[in-house]
Amino acid sequence: MSVITDSPAVVAGQQRSAELEQAIAHDPGAFRILTGDRPTGPLHVGHYFGSIANRVRLQEAGVELLVLIADYQALTDRTASADLPDVVLGLVADYLAAGVDPERATIFAHSQVAALNQLLLPFLSLVSVAEIGRNPTVKDEMAAAGSEVMSGLMFAYPVHQAADILACQANLVPVGKDQLPHLELTRVIARRFNDRYSPDAPFFAEPAALLSAAPLLLGLDGRKMSKSLGNSIPLRATADETARLVARAVTDSERRISYDPVGRPEVSSLVLLTALCRDDAPEAVADVIGDGGAAALKEMLTTALNDRFAALRARRAELAADPGYASQVLRDGCARARSVAAATLEQVRDAMGTRY
Ligand code: TRP
Repeated sequence: MSVITDSPAVVAGQQRSAELEQAIAHDPGAFRILTGDRPTGPLHVGHYFGSIANRVRLQEAGVELLVLIADYQALTDRTASADLPDVVLGLVADYLAAGVDPERATIFAHSQVAALNQLLLPFLSLVSVAEIGRNPTVKDEMAAAGSEVMSGLMFAYPVHQAADILACQANLVPVGKDQLPHLELTRVIARRFNDRYSPDAPFFAEPAALLSAAPLLLGLDGRKMSKSLGNSIPLRATADETARLVARAVTDSERRISYDPVGRPEVSSLVLLTALCRDDAPEAVADVIGDGGAAALKEMLTTALNDRFAALRARRAELAADPGYASQVLRDGCARARSVAAATLEQVRDAMGTRY
């Protein structure tokens, strides 16, 4: 049951995504995905069910997968923290443990790819300040921080994301609804570049957004689950840590457990998470618990999480014991991303006539 009606853009995006899924099933080799995360902390179960599992699914279906660690974007609103390298390598280990296969996929950090960042400059020339200012993320930041405090990098953030995507010549970007405006701007930039510099044969393909039905999981305190709010269950948590985290989750005093995301958001989020771990429907989980109350729900959730992630966590622990491996995977991925982006930049130079 959904009481929130999606905007026409989201509905159109969902229809388009269903068609894309069919095209992917038919010819996975025709697609190259770029997807990524800001390195702000370890991945949690919300990321897993919201995006990581989907990436691994697409990789297994035969689509080429590039995974970006958006380290410059993590610096848009904060200064580099001393533990950034650990956070970045931790992300690499999380991806590998979750099933991203470095033999087939490319994991890279955009700060290591000079040609990608250079594309930001011609792209900035293709959009106006007002257009960037209409991007919802930029608008929110502007409202929250004000233009005196917001960094220029934060302002340029959606254009930088276009450079990420187009440097890799990705044609498919799995996103949540909140990222649709970024993708629309990327498409505008690709179109304008083509119109201006390559009118006879479009150089950049306009990347498509692949909307995934990301389940809305709340944090353990009932707020949005977030790496920075400390209210999530990290993928790499041990079984004991998981039990302790689940124990402190907010519930309500109604004994009978039901799945009612609008009326009982906190309890329903725990039911949904249990269901996702068990590949079951949330209503079925609520029925099984019935009058068992919050205690039974938490017990079932703890077991479900620990069963579902046991193998992933065992791999994660092995990776943590051998940090050189994740480093090597990242170095190899950055080298590959550099060669892809450098080839794009060479062609962009030819198109723009900036070869002397
Ligand atoms: N903006 C994305 C986020 O906040 C991360 C990101 C950066 C990204 N560049 C990207 C995602 C390119 C997809 C493609 O989560």
